[in-house]
Amino acid sequence: MLVSQISSLIAGESESVSVLANVAAAIHQTMNFWWTGFYLVSNGKLLLAPFQGPVACMHIGYGRGVCGTSWKENRTIVVEDVEAFPGHIACSSLSRSEIVVPLRNGCGEVVGVLDIDSRELVAFDATDQHYLEEICKIVSRQLFAQ
Ligand code: SME
Repeated sequence: MLVSQISSLIAGESESVSVLANVAAAIHQTMNFWWTGFYLVSNGKLLLAPFQGPVACMHIGYGRGVCGTSWKENRTIVVEDVEAFPGHIACSSLSRSEIVVPLRNGCGEVVGVLDIDSRELVAFDATDQHYLEEICKIVSRQLFAQ
């Protein structure tokens, strides 16, 4: 349901801040996560972009933390327990599990990531991964295809 809601919500919109802000809000409100937001690649780093939730770190290096690792490895990363992920960047001590999904340009290169944190351990499964990847494909196609 969320995938089709987000598709309609952002249809025809091309302003990245507006689109990412509403996508973050739609996911966050629907799923009741702790933190839901985007980081975009800028000057060789991930820079904080629209999000919902508590304040977060503003820069993440390539290969750093879960987000920088997802960027480097160009794949979704599901972390069942953040304490068991070496190099996890703790923006909030309340975060217990996390999923990071890449956004890609038309060439398949990572241009940003969707990052979601939960206060529950093992909050994300293969179903979450599937639908969040669908959402990121829709967003990527709309904003970063060219
Ligand atoms: N935990 C992330 C950092 C971003 S915050 O969770 C919002 C990481 O390890 O990359």
